[in-house]
Amino acid sequence: MPNGLAGCCKTTALDITALLNGSKCSFTTCKFRLFAIARLALSSLATFFNSLPDTRLSMRFSAMPCHPAPFLDKMRGTMKQAQTKRIVLGITGGIAAYKAAELARLLIKQGIEVQVAMTEAATHFITPATMQALTGNPVLVNQWQDDKGMAHIQTSRVADAIVIAPATADFIAKLAHGLANDLLSSLCLARDCPLLVAPAMNKQMWANAATQRNVQRLADDGVVVLGPASGAQACGEEGMGRMLEAEELARDVFAALQNPTLTLLRQTQDRPSLSRLRERELNGVKVLITAGPTYEAIDAVRGITNRSSGKMGYAIALAAVEMGAEVLLVSGPTALAKPQGAQVVNVTSAAEMFEAVKQQVANADMFIGVAAVADYRVARPSEQKIKKSDAALTLELIPNPDILAYVASLPKPPFCVGFAAESEKLREHAAAKRKKKNIPLLAANLAQNAIGSDDNELVLFDAAGEHVLPRADKLVLARALLRHAAVLYKKGSK
Ligand SMILES: Cc1cc2nc3c(=O)[nH]c(=O)nc-3n(C[C@H](O)[C@H](O)[C@H](O)COP(=O)(O)O)c2cc1C
Repeated sequence: MPNGLAGCCKTTALDITALLNGSKCSFTTCKFRLFAIARLALSSLATFFNSLPDTRLSMRFSAMPCHPAPFLDKMRGTMKQAQTKRIVLGITGGIAAYKAAELARLLIKQGIEVQVAMTEAATHFITPATMQALTGNPVLVNQWQDDKGMAHIQTSRVADAIVIAPATADFIAKLAHGLANDLLSSLCLARDCPLLVAPAMNKQMWANAATQRNVQRLADDGVVVLGPASGAQACGEEGMGRMLEAEELARDVFAALQNPTLTLLRQTQDRPSLSRLRERELNGVKVLITAGPTYEAIDAVRGITNRSSGKMGYAIALAAVEMGAEVLLVSGPTALAKPQGAQVVNVTSAAEMFEAVKQQVANADMFIGVAAVADYRVARPSEQKIKKSDAALTLELIPNPDILAYVASLPKPPFCVGFAAESEKLREHAAAKRKKKNIPLLAANLAQNAIGSDDNELVLFDAAGEHVLPRADKLVLARALLRHAAVLYKKGSK
């Protein structure tokens, strides 16, 4: 029997005997004792797993606190999910470290296992205890207090990616120069997985030529740089350098983990193809996108709308920005945050959306009509609230302009991508719609699967036939759709 098991069995046996040796055993105390026995047995099992020689296994189990609920969760998790994604969340010493707590929470909510590693400076901004409580895993800080002695090498071996959020100017400089003078920088240098960094700093630090050089070097080395954003800064100034919000980072990390090209970053010998991940297929292309629902007024307070959330259109706007496009998003009413890097024109009704598109379309190289534009509007909306009465109320509805058809029939139309939300006979209706509108690419989805949800499934129709994009996060689909559109656009396909 391995020493670890012998040792822990001995302790457990003694403790169980002690527990059973109580004289009278009421129902409650018996229950308590049985629970305590189960606890002891489980913590012994955890100690046993820790004593196993296999590094991957012991790494995984070393993260287990010795109490039953997280332990069982981990056991369940380890057995259940061959494809569970694991990330190392690296936190460095910036004000935005507080956002790392929310990021960890959101990633865990998406089923990602999170191991936190912090620089010493980061512990001045957020405590390891908070991160340990949120993730259920002990936090790695000090390379000289490392039970296994090799955390700086082993940690990335069981991770699908390392995400540094926030990444200070100092840490970015270290990464760019291959320094490894603490645990987090060492494990980044010794990594065997992709690295994503979310810079967070004051606008002057960000604009400094040294930082810009370092960020460029990271990008050249295949590191994925997420953000930063522009906005109010902790120092009271306003400008570029804010870390992306936790929701945005969680979405990007999740999408990156689903992206097979990210795995290219594992191998340095793949470096020539690394550019594929950062490939800016839409560099300088002017993309006009419509998104969200429209709202057609009935009277001063009532209206006709639909359940479109705008998520797909916003994801496409974001993906287009990532791919280097200049994006103008004409958005109906949604509750979504403005996609970073896109210009947004907010409209309410289909008529307003049509006007905005007419004004902008001459500048567009590509038009993507994702909005769920109301087909009809009320002929004569009342300026005042219509008073309730016992009589039936008849509303006359008249058709709205077909924005996509208008754009596609311009003498020099941009490259047009249409969307079809069908509730049945998806393929039949979508293929017919593409032909009728005379557009090169149409993305079809089942309305009941798509509306409001974070993921979706698309079938693309073009001159070559149909291409299925299987169910995935909308941002993942948006990237795939745009890659497809970019190829057709470059070919000048019609
Ligand atoms: C209050 C305070 C806030 C700071 N905020 C940031 C920040 O947002 N971004 C940054 O790059 N550095 C910031 N710094 C400077 C870093 O903490 C400093 O460069 C530190 O050495 C970074 O260590 P690390 O990169 O090992 O985590 C801040 C420093 C202080 C004292």
